[in-house]
Amino acid sequence: MDMDKIVALCKRRGFIYPSSEIYGGLNGFWDYGPLGVELKRNIKEAWWRDMVLDPPPGPDGEELQMVGLDCAIIMNPKVWEASGHVAGFVDWMTECPSCKRRYRADKVYLVALVPEKELPHYTAAAPGQSPTPPVVLAYQADDPQQARKLFEAEFGRLVKKQKLAADLAPLAIVSVLQAPSHWPRPCPEPGCTGQLSEPRKFNLMFRTFVGAAEDASAVAYLRPETAQGIFVNFANVLGTTRVKLPFGIAQIGKAFRNEINPRYFTFRSREFEQMEIEFFCHPHESEKWYRFWRDVRIRWYVQLGLRSDRLRPREQSREELAHYSCGTTDIEYLFPFADEPQELEGVAHRGDYDLRQHQQASGKDLTYFDEEAWERDKTQLGFTSFKEWLKTNPAPEQVGRYQFLPHVIEPSAGVDRLALAAICEAYAEDTVGGEPRVVMRFHPRLAPIKAAVFPLVNRDGMPEKAYALYRELKRQFVVFYDDKGAIGRRYRRQDEAGTPFCITIDSQTLQDDTVTLRNRDDCTQIRLPIRAVAEELHRRLQPPR
Ligand code: GAP
Repeated sequence: MDMDKIVALCKRRGFIYPSSEIYGGLNGFWDYGPLGVELKRNIKEAWWRDMVLDPPPGPDGEELQMVGLDCAIIMNPKVWEASGHVAGFVDWMTECPSCKRRYRADKVYLVALVPEKELPHYTAAAPGQSPTPPVVLAYQADDPQQARKLFEAEFGRLVKKQKLAADLAPLAIVSVLQAPSHWPRPCPEPGCTGQLSEPRKFNLMFRTFVGAAEDASAVAYLRPETAQGIFVNFANVLGTTRVKLPFGIAQIGKAFRNEINPRYFTFRSREFEQMEIEFFCHPHESEKWYRFWRDVRIRWYVQLGLRSDRLRPREQSREELAHYSCGTTDIEYLFPFADEPQELEGVAHRGDYDLRQHQQASGKDLTYFDEEAWERDKTQLGFTSFKEWLKTNPAPEQVGRYQFLPHVIEPSAGVDRLALAAICEAYAEDTVGGEPRVVMRFHPRLAPIKAAVFPLVNRDGMPEKAYALYRELKRQFVVFYDDKGAIGRRYRRQDEAGTPFCITIDSQTLQDDTVTLRNRDDCTQIRLPIRAVAEELHRRLQPPR
């Protein structure tokens, strides 16, 4: 699969445009066109329906309690101090004074080359004491394996052009962050001769000012995740609804990160949308809920048409875990632009980190009172009131049976990453009747347009009948009416947009009120009564059970 073709199709058909393109665009920002906006809406609606309104039953067959929130993008900056983002949401950045490019220091790899016969001399030196390697090459890569591949592809070329000696061998491949300080740090931009600066920390949160004053007291941040809005509203939700543990709070919304290197089309953007659940549960049950959500979320992607051989759950290693996480599974997808699968969603076991931090920083009680457990034990304890019992100074472990900070399991997905994965997964080229076509094989639930209605020809009353059907269907579905050009070309246009069904009004319709319904993927057609079309579409578009 060719990423360039996918990017070109996205532009040509109105899925995704560079943001503010007439002014040259803005790196890391994208606009969704008429088809893209429907695709994103379908993703968000499928998630909300399947996770919030009609979630699967819990591990013991019980109904899940899920509620939603929609929080402000800008919150009190104390939220981000307590969450650890002000101090810890950083990447290491390095820049080239010559070409002015900036890089994530952990994504630039240095390949140190030394004459093969001197390798033992270099490797025998104590760490940090080895002589400076005579040649160092630099590559932008996600990991050392990718850097090695890039190096191997280039090395032969450089030797052939006599720019490098053939007897050089790689001593080490390390990121700029890990490289010994005495190594040269060439800029990875081809043709640039600059040397990269010492890496320094860079906070990824976008800063702004609230109100008229632009001083330190007015600094605020665009949220880098939707999750914190949920944590700081935990007590509000408990106090205003009847939810009891375990329960989940869901939110879909924009998040902003001042990524140093936005790349891979929309994959790493500076503005994007998240779909996040914070699922609160009893600490004793958190492992069970962690496994449950991991499995539910993997299944959801497969049901929406992402093939399981491109989809991969990967348990993060200890070193990879975010500062708050005591376990995370990344759900990854093998995109055409990368050799290794990339993250679509993280399912994290966050323990009680966030509620504890916010409780401490705000001074507000964010514990959960387990009324059922208290009701069960109170007679045995000889008290009717929990408050009265507390006055007897019971041991903290005893109090913790009834009042505690819940643990949190967080499935956190990116709308834009799923949209990109769905586009990559859908893209196909085949031939129909000997003619090549591009067809977007979206899952019908995700397809931007659900059905197109065509009159076979623009006469004999066909347009009138077709338009009446279109008017009826558009009240229930996103449908498209097209009476321009040959019928074959109209089918092709819808195939490229990913429309799963095309309905054609022909001369037989005028006699018996039946129409043809064509299936995008195999181009088969059935005939059915015009009055049965809406019901048939509903049946075919229903979420699986
Ligand atoms: N609350 C946890 C959290 O935000 P994350 O792994 O940093 O975790 C969750 O982000 C998801 O948000 C990612 O799996 C990805 O789908 C999406 N995401 C994160 N950064 C992104 C970016 N720069 N561009 C597009 N999507 C991004």
